[in-house]
Amino acid sequence: MRGFVRRALEKLSKLDTEQIEQLFQTLGEENERLAVVLDSMNDGVFVTDELHRLVLVNKAAERMVPIAPGRIIADRPVWQVIADEDIATFVRETLENDESISDQEFTLDHGGTTRILNCSVIPLVQAGHIRGNILQLVDISEKRGREARLRRAESLASLTTLAAGVAHEIKNPLGSIGIHTQLLQKLVREQSANNLETVESYLGIIEEEIERLNKIVVDFLFAVRPMDTKLEDNDLNLLVEDLLTFVQYELEQAEIELVRDLDPDLAQLHLDPKYFKQAVLNIIKNAISAMPDGGMLRVSTQQRGDQALLRISDNGIGMSDEVRDKIFEPYFTTHDFGSGIGLTLVYKVVKEHMGDISVISKEGHGTTFTITLPVPQRDTHLITWEGREER
Ligand SMILES: Nc1ncnc2c1ncn2[C@@H]1O[C@H](COP(=O)(O)OP(=O)(O)O)[C@@H](O)[C@H]1O
Ligand SMILES: [Mg+2]
Repeated sequence: MRGFVRRALEKLSKLDTEQIEQLFQTLGEENERLAVVLDSMNDGVFVTDELHRLVLVNKAAERMVPIAPGRIIADRPVWQVIADEDIATFVRETLENDESISDQEFTLDHGGTTRILNCSVIPLVQAGHIRGNILQLVDISEKRGREARLRRAESLASLTTLAAGVAHEIKNPLGSIGIHTQLLQKLVREQSANNLETVESYLGIIEEEIERLNKIVVDFLFAVRPMDTKLEDNDLNLLVEDLLTFVQYELEQAEIELVRDLDPDLAQLHLDPKYFKQAVLNIIKNAISAMPDGGMLRVSTQQRGDQALLRISDNGIGMSDEVRDKIFEPYFTTHDFGSGIGLTLVYKVVKEHMGDISVISKEGHGTTFTITLPVPQRDTHLITWEGREER
């Protein structure tokens, strides 16, 4: 309660009519202001008391969810007021179990258009006691639409790069097959085909080139195939440990010292272990290639706010800026027998995990890859109604 109201109440019996009128006026204005604020908000808000009865609802909430006709009245639990079955069930179960839940998503058919609502139930705390709950609704349809458009544009752009890459890769083997076929035709025409050794070597070359073409196509399909990632709660540290055990022998053979620095307080992350391990393995394999005379591989994890960081550093040959700018492009490789597809997969996997990847590299000094992943939000904040003057 506001300090001045409390003081006025204490002295109520001593106030004259005019002063009481004044008090009501002030309270009324304040009430009005709060209602306007609530109704001007873009987020939908339902407020309930301890018995889950609806005590307040703003305009946005009424726009967002269908309200059972004639039911905006007190004395009913809030879930009887909400006419959408899924949301009503969610609200009832959450409130009855005394839980607070954030970021539960619902898809609603809203007069022919689909809306995506993000719902949170937050306890309403007043003077240290839970006095009810707030159901907050955020319409995230636009945001989702933007994200989807961006992903489509991104994947279209990468598909174009990929197609250009394939076209370029295919030109050389096709040219070579063409030349050797012509040479064979010439041999046949001149009837010097008794030179079987030459014929055989030409055919061998053609066969090799066809194999190369096949590999390009297989890699291409691999790069464009949609991923069936299943993101589930996983311990990134455990996953990294697993992988390091797997490459330990190879590191020893290459005389590479392994330093690990894993944050013990790292939250559980949404990961697909199969794909994520493959991605990290690709980065480590590149690091090993970059340290032909041995060196140091440093793997660290760290939680920073609502992000988890995974860093993989080597002190190998490093890259020039030109190379660094191309490494995620399909088929880009500086390795003699490289496919140039390793980091393309890494990029794809990180994006599937809603993460980001960045690279810092210096020629002759080494390279650091940093993968950032979102930490799933579970903890809700408590909202309090306590007036500032009362603290
Ligand atoms: N740790 C690293 N140090 C130096 N260069 C690297 C490193 N990681 C990647 N690269 C560069 O990126 C290129 C592309 O890597 P990748 O996509 O895995 O294909 P590939 O390993 O088949 O060459 C490599 O050929 C190399 O030039
Ligand atoms: Mg590689």
